[in-house]
Amino acid sequence: MSSPKPILVVAGVGNSSGTGGATARLFAKHGYLVALVARNADNLKAAAEEINKSGGEAAAFPISNYEYSTVINVCDQIKTHNWSNGKGEIRVALFNSGHGVWKPFLDVTEQDIQENVQVNILAAFAFSRQAILAFKENKIDEKGRRGTLLFTGATASLRGNVVTSGFATGKFALRALSQSLSKEFGKENIHVAHAIIDGGILTDRTLERQPGNAKDNFQNNLDIRLSPESIAESYLYLANQDRSAWTWELDLRPAHEKW
Ligand SMILES: *[C@@H]1O[C@H](CO)[C@@H](O)[C@H](O)[C@H]1NC(C)=O
Ligand SMILES: *[C@@H]1O[C@H](CO)[C@@H](O)[C@H](O)[C@H]1NC(C)=O
Ligand SMILES: *[C@@H]1O[C@H](CO)[C@@H](O)[C@H](O)[C@H]1NC(C)=O
Repeated sequence: MSSPKPILVVAGVGNSSGTGGATARLFAKHGYLVALVARNADNLKAAAEEINKSGGEAAAFPISNYEYSTVINVCDQIKTHNWSNGKGEIRVALFNSGHGVWKPFLDVTEQDIQENVQVNILAAFAFSRQAILAFKENKIDEKGRRGTLLFTGATASLRGNVVTSGFATGKFALRALSQSLSKEFGKENIHVAHAIIDGGILTDRTLERQPGNAKDNFQNNLDIRLSPESIAESYLYLANQDRSAWTWELDLRPAHEKW
């Protein structure tokens, strides 16, 4: 029997125009089976079909919320999914989900805080737990690894600002989680890395938010925003590192980002 194919699990695919979707497409091209997790079932199915059409194999795992038990359960489903060639092995897991609240502190509601904690902390713990348990069952591969757990961070992972109390608190926590896991599980040959995305990413949603006269520039000017495909290249690089020189954290920003 041929050896099991590697699986990439991505949580937070949105409608597939951003970092999660680009990472799924790139890893699929590099021979990974991809398991996609997000809230919108229709978008997710379309994203999986697109990867299938271009010669990869993807499966969609829609969830109705980011509660701890929901995330635990969806990862169990992924672990027992039957791929066309039998079973795969989860080798890379990307936590790309996030919940942003951009409001002055006095406008932040209890619900905003709960959603921030739900997605950025509780769901991240559940996802990490399931990824690490899966990696622990893997044999050490030719690069000395059992698996790679990646986190998408933001400018707000390092800096609070005037409207980010309801977001930076969650992103700080996510960074702290990733650092703790990288220390705890490095000795089991599990690689944990955190990427600070320090600028605007071009997605359908961020493009929509640009004022009319700024849309063209945001879409076409690579000096001022990040391309999801370029972030995905960095994630592939992280996932390909051998154990003698692992990155815990990298940061990415466009050439003309003014900080
Ligand atoms: C993608 O292809 C696989 C294998 O051929 C199939 O099992 C799966 O249902 C397809 N997924 C979608 C969303 O079409
Ligand atoms: C996968 O296949 C096995 C046996 O071929 C079957 O017992 C199992 O129920 C299948 N799992 C799912 C999730 O369909
Ligand atoms: C993604 O969502 C945006 C708005 O939410 C929409 O404009 C766009 O057409 C969607 N793209 C895809 C590929 O579904």
